[in-house]
Amino acid sequence: MLYSDKVMDHFRNPRNMGTIDDADGIGEVGNAKCGDIMKMYLKIDRGIITDVKFNTFGCGSAIATSSMATEMIKGKSVKEALMLSNKAVVEALDGLPAQKIHCSVLAEEAVKAAIDNYYEKNPESFREDLFRLEDDEDSCSSGCGGCSGCGGF
Ligand code: FES
Repeated sequence: MLYSDKVMDHFRNPRNMGTIDDADGIGEVGNAKCGDIMKMYLKIDRGIITDVKFNTFGCGSAIATSSMATEMIKGKSVKEALMLSNKAVVEALDGLPAQKIHCSVLAEEAVKAAIDNYYEKNPESFREDLFRLEDDEDSCSSGCGGCSGCGGF
């Protein structure tokens, strides 16, 4: 079988398909070769992706990978979402045929474009989100954001 059960499932029953009217970030990317387009909508609250939806004029693999990508970033931090690779999405789908790997790149790029768009519109949140996340990771109580260089001052 060319496609895994997971790919077929996400293609037939895509998760988080649609739009978000009051999205905080919207990313649109396209693949010049096949002409397919993907649009990703994010709601972001204090550095956490609270909701995500996607729309695509693309092939079945593009639908399946976007669907899986939205599931993988929903409820996660922006930082984690930025680290999501198309490879991780393909692995979560139990693989894609080699000639369809490029479709999964659209999903990764659309997530990144939507996050970019959010920080373009909310540049002040970039520092806040980054520091908050660093803070969470390091349990730093200095209130300065938890960088390693200041010794708490
Ligand atoms: Fe264009 Fe799959 S063939 S995204």
